[in-house]
Parts: sequence; C-alpha cells; structure tokens
Amino acid sequence: MQYELNKLYKLDYRQATKCFPDNYFGTGIYDFPYGINESKKSARRRRDKHSYSARQQNGKVLKINRSTYVSGDWDNATPAVEVINEAKRIVENYLFFGANYIADKLGVAKAPFKTPRRNEIDFFLEQYPKGWIAWDKCNGINDFSDYELIFTSFDFKSYILPYMWNGMMQGKSIKYGQVQQGDKRLNEKRQHPTHKPTLLIRYLLQKYGKSPIVDLSFGAGSIPLSCVMEGFDFFACEINDKYIDVAKQRLESYRMQSQNIIPFPFFTKKNLIEND
Ligand SMILES: C[S@@+](CC[C@H](N)C(=O)[O-])C[C@H]1O[C@@H](n2cnc3c(N)ncnc32)[C@H](O)[C@@H]1O
Repeated sequence: MQYELNKLYKLDYRQATKCFPDNYFGTGIYDFPYGINESKKSARRRRDKHSYSARQQNGKVLKINRSTYVSGDWDNATPAVEVINEAKRIVENYLFFGANYIADKLGVAKAPFKTPRRNEIDFFLEQYPKGWIAWDKCNGINDFSDYELIFTSFDFKSYILPYMWNGMMQGKSIKYGQVQQGDKRLNEKRQHPTHKPTLLIRYLLQKYGKSPIVDLSFGAGSIPLSCVMEGFDFFACEINDKYIDVAKQRLESYRMQSQNIIPFPFFTKKNLIEND
C-alpha cells in the first residue's frame, strides 16, 4: 500500500479507494457530502448570528450563537454510485452517515429521501427494520433535522440513539445522551457544518469498529480523532485544505495533551478499587 496508516491525507475519495484491495479495512465509517448545500446554509446562518433559539428541558429559551465554520461548496452533490460501491468493496463492514441522501446509490430505496421528523420516526423504523441507527440530536423544536440516519452492514434491529447535539447544548455522555452537559467548558468545539461528535463516533467504534478504520472524507477529523482516542488504526482523506488544517490541529493537540499526562500512582486501577 502506498499510504501509511494513522496519517491524514489530502486526497480525492475517487482516487483513494482505488489504492486498496477488497476488504482491506475492518470498518468503513463514511460521511460523504449530502448534496443539500449544508456548507452554504451554515454560511447564511452565520450572517444572522442570533436567529435561532432552542427550548431547554427546564423550559427556558436559549439563544444559540452560530459557530464560525470554514465554508465552501463541497456539499453540492452526493458522490457517484461508483464511489459508494468502491467504499463498500474495500471494507468488511460499514456505517454510512447521511445514508438517506444516498439511499438509491446504497441500494436501500428507489430514491434519496428526507430525514424523518420526530412524528415520522416510528414509521421509518417499521419501513427499515434492520441495520439503521437514527441518531436523535435531542434538539427541541427548530428548523434543523431531528435525526441523522446511519445505514450499516450489520444485521441488528434498527434503533434510535439519543445524543444531544444542538449548538452549545451537547449531551453529557452516550448513556445520558438526553441530559445536557452542565459544564460548557467540556463541550466539543464544532468546526465543520456537519461536524460529528467524537463521543458518538467513539461509541460506534467501540460497538462496531474493527481495525483498521477508513474515513474517505474526514472534514474536521472527528472520525480519525476518535480512532486515536480509542486505539484504532485508520486511513483518512479529505479534499478541502481548510478542513485538513483543522483536523491536523485537533489530532496534534490531542496527541500532545495525552503525552503530557503523567501517570500518577494514586490513579492505578488497584488504588481506585481500594478507594471505592
Ligand atoms: C459530511 S462532510 C464530513 C464531516 C466530518 N465527518 C466531520 O465530522 O467533520 C463531507 C466532507 O467531504 C469532503 N469532500 C467533498 N468532496 C470530496 C472528495 N472528492 N474527496 C474527499 N473529500 C471530499 C468535504 O470537503 C467535506 O468536508
């Protein structure tokens, strides 16, 4: 293979897949462009900084500040069916984010379809009973999608996975995904219009990941960063220089930070158990 694992490459996914034999990777976690102009939408929202609010669980209405994402026109179209087939060919198993936008190319529906709204989700799960995860963003009432659909090659019963992801309102953990993180300093900074939460990706890796992982359009780098955090090897590429810089910086600062953590005897497993 001409590419080393565990590096971020500037590479077009149309070329990247050609470098790998069948089933080379354990798991593909794919997040291709959705073809809905998400990059331009977020640029528009930025101009109207306080235009959106969300109702919190305590009933208060919170004004949400727009993040300053790097924009672009990468979301004009979904990848060609050949790219999707190649993405499937090089892995043993896969998870596709935004799968409804490429449902025809994945061969799971005749045409792409809109993300279901909250009152449509039961019907969706009935229609697509196997292998789908509906990530519930627990985002209250606003014009954003309530869910993001992930289609996988696994045979489990389709299910809803709640994890709050709504501006500065982020879930405390996957276990308590509907509970808002109280300390905003612990929030993950969103640096891409379709930035995926590392907590969510880490959970998916733990549950379905097999090394090495492949991500063919890493954006702000949440998938490769989660691989580093969870100890999975990965191959990752992206075409947009600005996102590549963002992702490199995120991985670099995580690596630096973890190198600086000096193990302290008090926190050995034995001690923790004894202190319980
Ligand atoms: C849905 S976003 C990925 C977001 C990412 N998962 C994150 O958490 O930040 C899709 C990405 O595909 C990239 N992209 C578009 N065309 C590409 C191509 N031909 N090759 C590689 N990447 C491409 C875009 O620049 C964009 O960042």
